[in-house]
Amino acid sequence: MKEFTALIVKDQPEVHSQFVSQTFSALPEGDVLVKINYSDVNYKDALATVAKSGVLRSYPLTPGIDLAGEVVESSHPQYAPGEKVLLTGYGLGVSHPGGFSEFQRVPGEWLVPLPEGLSEKEAMILGTAGFTAGLAVQALEQHGVEKTARIFVTGASGGVGSCSIAMLKQLGYQEIVAISRKPDAHSWLKELGASRVVAPEELLPDKKRPLGKQQIDALIDTVGGDLLAGLLPQLAYGGTAALCGNAGGIQLETTVLPFILRGIQLIGIDSVNVPMEPRKKMWARLATDLNVASRLNFHEISLEQVLDTIQSLLDGTHQGRTIIDMQVKK
Ligand SMILES: NC(=O)c1ccc[n+]([C@@H]2O[C@H](COP(=O)([O-])OP(=O)(O)OC[C@H]3O[C@@H](n4cnc5c(N)ncnc54)[C@H](OP(=O)(O)O)[C@@H]3O)[C@@H](O)[C@H]2O)c1
Repeated sequence: MKEFTALIVKDQPEVHSQFVSQTFSALPEGDVLVKINYSDVNYKDALATVAKSGVLRSYPLTPGIDLAGEVVESSHPQYAPGEKVLLTGYGLGVSHPGGFSEFQRVPGEWLVPLPEGLSEKEAMILGTAGFTAGLAVQALEQHGVEKTARIFVTGASGGVGSCSIAMLKQLGYQEIVAISRKPDAHSWLKELGASRVVAPEELLPDKKRPLGKQQIDALIDTVGGDLLAGLLPQLAYGGTAALCGNAGGIQLETTVLPFILRGIQLIGIDSVNVPMEPRKKMWARLATDLNVASRLNFHEISLEQVLDTIQSLLDGTHQGRTIIDMQVKK
């Protein structure tokens, strides 16, 4: 019987991660068996390995919210063996065993056929981070943000932040301001498309005020918390903020004044439960006008190296994107 490697997070005697050798009989119910060729590592995957983070719904469970690979067996009418597929979100790596495994069995209704023009590797360089960035950028487009707008991006050296900057640049937005705590990320963020890079403290006023200088037309935020609270009063009249993440905290202390005096709008971005039709449309864009995979700062690891990447994500020292090549053994 074929054996393969998977990472499993267990909660006995305490929460810990362990590589195991499994057979197909250990995989969950599902109508499609996928040989995973690539996965990638997101902040949520790092949290999945931490006790009381609330990401994993049960233990033991294989984390990994993204996968790309090839169908091996299928009883789903839309998928036949040999077909290339990708999967991000839904319950993957949260309530259903995920992508940090060489094989996975999944519900066919969660799969997206790999769009033409996108390789499995590119799909995972983008992954949930790129999908989320695409949704945020699209939300700004839909809200009529102009190409000359001053667009700020927080958590710029992270996955969602860096993908957002690359996409905005590719679409022709002219003034993209990266907000990053990491001085050593400034040069690659400029190469990616940032007009300038600023540290969060340069933008946060010494004294909190409900309204500040109107210097931001649109914002893509991945940090939340105090940084977001400090930026909302700086949104210009009619400004828009797409809220994607909470790397800096889930609290948001604000007032109603920027909303009722400047007409600003907040848009919530969810990548997990996007219905299939808009999901496929976004992946089609990620394969065409939003395909920034070749320009992103990414590195490649083996499955066995994933815990090191997880540690750097938790430490806040990780930069760009990390993908897992399942063929690589280290
Ligand atoms: N809405 C959705 O469906 C969705 C999808 C994907 C991700 N997310 C969320 O979006 C956020 C970013 O995800 P990601 O995968 O891009 O994570 P990531 O690669 O770890 O990037 C997060 C970035 O935020 C900044 N940061 C980290 N810790 C911080 C802290 N304590 N205070 C302030 N800034 C901090 C860092 O950028 P700098 O050092 O450059 O400042 C870091 O690189 C996470 O909260 C994630 O859960 C949500």
